[in-house]
Amino acid sequence: MDLLNQIKLNASKHNMRIVLPEGTEPRTLKAAEIILKEKIARLILLGNKEQIIEKASELGVDITDAKLVDPANDLRRDFYAAKMVEIRKDKGLTFEEALTLLNDPLYFGPMMIKCGDADGELAGAINATGDVLRPALQYIKTIPGCSVVSGAFLMFVDKKIVDDGILVFADCAVMPDPTDIQLAEIAVTTAKTAKAIVGMEPRVAMLSFSTKGSAKHPLVDKVANATKLAKQMAPELLIDGELQLDAALVKEVGELKSPGSLVAGQANILVFPGLESGNIGYKLVQRLAGAEAVGPVLQGMAAPINDLSRGCSVTDIINMVAITANQAANNY
Ligand code: ACO
Repeated sequence: MDLLNQIKLNASKHNMRIVLPEGTEPRTLKAAEIILKEKIARLILLGNKEQIIEKASELGVDITDAKLVDPANDLRRDFYAAKMVEIRKDKGLTFEEALTLLNDPLYFGPMMIKCGDADGELAGAINATGDVLRPALQYIKTIPGCSVVSGAFLMFVDKKIVDDGILVFADCAVMPDPTDIQLAEIAVTTAKTAKAIVGMEPRVAMLSFSTKGSAKHPLVDKVANATKLAKQMAPELLIDGELQLDAALVKEVGELKSPGSLVAGQANILVFPGLESGNIGYKLVQRLAGAEAVGPVLQGMAAPINDLSRGCSVTDIINMVAITANQAANNY
């Protein structure tokens, strides 16, 4: 059985409650029908109930088993608003402002999770990443001991290029310009994600345009420092840097440029130095090498909230709901 089917099967054992804030979005509704039929997760669709039902019937999809919740008039609004005020008291958020924010499903969804009424969320089919992330960062926040949320992609590539046919890339979605400490945290968190979702034995390459001092530049120093810090944070982790991409992936180049490394030439996790290279990098591999890109799987958040690309397919939504459900069930 392939990995994605295994992930869906695992999800179905946990019966998690996943909230989908874009309740009238056609691909979301089509995915919802399949998710409910295959019992991958229980679903909560947010939006005006009549509009959701009308859209579903227009599309001919059966969403009878989904729970429909309208953020504009749900009975839990006051409770959620009080919780929001408590969380944002330092920022001076008022009860009235919180009620207004709750009209937005992208705020309502995370508050359902925060207050124990849902286990995870997936959005982004029609909303920009920043708009999906901001409420999650403000109200769900990071897991203890982790200061940064980042986004990993599972990249399914040709087995002729990579032994197992799968690489994990990060950060490709969240942190525009990480510091060395943040980069180190991203590396450690990505290794945990790869282990939890893929069952991978992580070999982490910290990418740069330089290998082991071949170029001198503050950007190179940042990656080299991040590598040292990551080793301190997780001494057991196989990690090497700074490495150029070919030194990370190609055996002969790795042996030449970083002799004796247990990572160079055989990395399975690629940590990019910033969001520009990470986001462009995953899309290059997806579009030019034909890799299937699954993600971004958001990591470091206290509860699973995941984002979709606005170009996502129905299959992407199904896969990401399954991943979100697994994260919720297993706390990663
Ligand atoms: N990890 C943890 N907390 C964070 C992070 C992070 N990576 N980034 C911001 N925060 C916190 C802030 O500390 C702040 O907390 P506070 O309000 O309690 O003080 C809160 O989140 C809001 O942060 P701001 O910086 O005020 O919010 P902003 O909107 O400026 O930025 C965001 C956050 C949305 C993540 C921004 O960095 C962003 O837009 N990143 C890029 C997202 C993107 O467009 N990705 C590419 C597309 S994705 C794709 O192609 C798959």
